[in-house]
Amino acid sequence: MDRLVIEGGRKLSGEVAVSGAKNAALPAMAASLLASGPTTVDRVPCLNDVLTMGRLLEYMGVVIGSCKGGVTLDTSGLDRFEAPYELVKTMRASVLVLGPLVARYGRARVSMPGGCAIGARPINLHLMGLEKMGARVELEEGYVTASAKRLQGAKIYLDIASVTCTENLMMAAALAKGSTLIENAAREPEIPCLARMLTAMGAHIKGAGQSIIEIEGVDELHPVTHKVIPDRIETGTFIAAAAITGSEITITGAEPDHLDAVVHKIRETGVDIQSKGDTMTVKGPERLMSADLKTMPYPGFPTDMQAQFMSMMSLADGASTIQERIFENRFMHVAELSRMGANITEDAGVAIVRGVRQLKGAEVMATDLRASASLVVAALAAKGKSTVHRIYHLDRGYHRLEEKLSGLGASITREKGP
Ligand code: EPZ
Repeated sequence: MDRLVIEGGRKLSGEVAVSGAKNAALPAMAASLLASGPTTVDRVPCLNDVLTMGRLLEYMGVVIGSCKGGVTLDTSGLDRFEAPYELVKTMRASVLVLGPLVARYGRARVSMPGGCAIGARPINLHLMGLEKMGARVELEEGYVTASAKRLQGAKIYLDIASVTCTENLMMAAALAKGSTLIENAAREPEIPCLARMLTAMGAHIKGAGQSIIEIEGVDELHPVTHKVIPDRIETGTFIAAAAITGSEITITGAEPDHLDAVVHKIRETGVDIQSKGDTMTVKGPERLMSADLKTMPYPGFPTDMQAQFMSMMSLADGASTIQERIFENRFMHVAELSRMGANITEDAGVAIVRGVRQLKGAEVMATDLRASASLVVAALAAKGKSTVHRIYHLDRGYHRLEEKLSGLGASITREKGP
């Protein structure tokens, strides 16, 4: 398993470009199942999760090619309607093929994703929505089987504004007969991004990005070329890296409007952030100020930036409280940050971070995608050498992060593990 070796304490400078959003590319690739022929998804980041989605679609008979910065997905020869456990267990977002398969082919057999490091990650709302649309849903031997002659439009209320659930049901409704209303829909930017793609394919969707989305089903959708939005969490991770090291960097190819809550909160800690078009300049202070945080559904502060923010606050002047309100187990970076000298106590989803003057480099272990990013961010500021192990977690959501950070002047190298 590969690891990253980081010599901390160096200032960053220069420019870094943001890649396309992982969490927009994955649903877009799944949406290709809704039409027959070659769909192209542009600005797809080269990430392990994207490769896993590609393997899953190839397993089903989709022919995948790569084009400059994107992927082509030809679904003409699709002949399998199943997402096997060995693929789904490595990437929960595989569940995104469920809605498109039932909508287009009338059947699907998808392995239950199971939990992951950050939480149970149930899919009961996905299944409830499909049942409301007339699908017959059964659970057997760890698989969900869903079938429908043709899905019918329905009024669906989501207890929790789940992003992938909203995406699954929006895709399913696009080919249903009649009108579907999704209430308490997720509002993350990845939702309007997917709606833009589905609309270009011929779908009729209103309200994407709001809490109520209305979809008028059509009989057929056609392939398109779709460009995904920039990755707002990668952008936020670079902002955190500049903030914690007191550096000034420029981030290009971003979408600042998708980061209002992140920018607002990080400015509160004394970081200067300016944006113009798709470019953001970030200037970290000599020492960060403490600030309290609650993670919320969009447009609130994203849970995917909580760990990176905690790394920043571990060096801030004062104490900060951080509440994780989306996932039940997203504090696994606390123990690893403590190994670097952070002073953090946590109880029942609330962490109290008492800022220290200095973090010290240490051997630490990545446990999940964004926890990995938080350890890299902390190591950039820590005194001395850090080694971050098990960075396969990191590679799921960041493409060669070490190369991008090296380009900003960080001392960071990847060592091939056994
Ligand atoms: C998306 O996950 C993102 N993944 C996650 O990013 C992100 O952290 C999350 O939204 C929250 O913003 C993708 O878009 C591929 P959930 P999603 O499992 O929508 C509850 C990353 O780091 N819930 O729906 O799959 C669940 O328990 C990843 O890039 C149900 O109860 O999130 C949790 O509390 C991590 N029943 C909440 O909803 C359901 O049927 C959201 O979790 C579905 C969800």
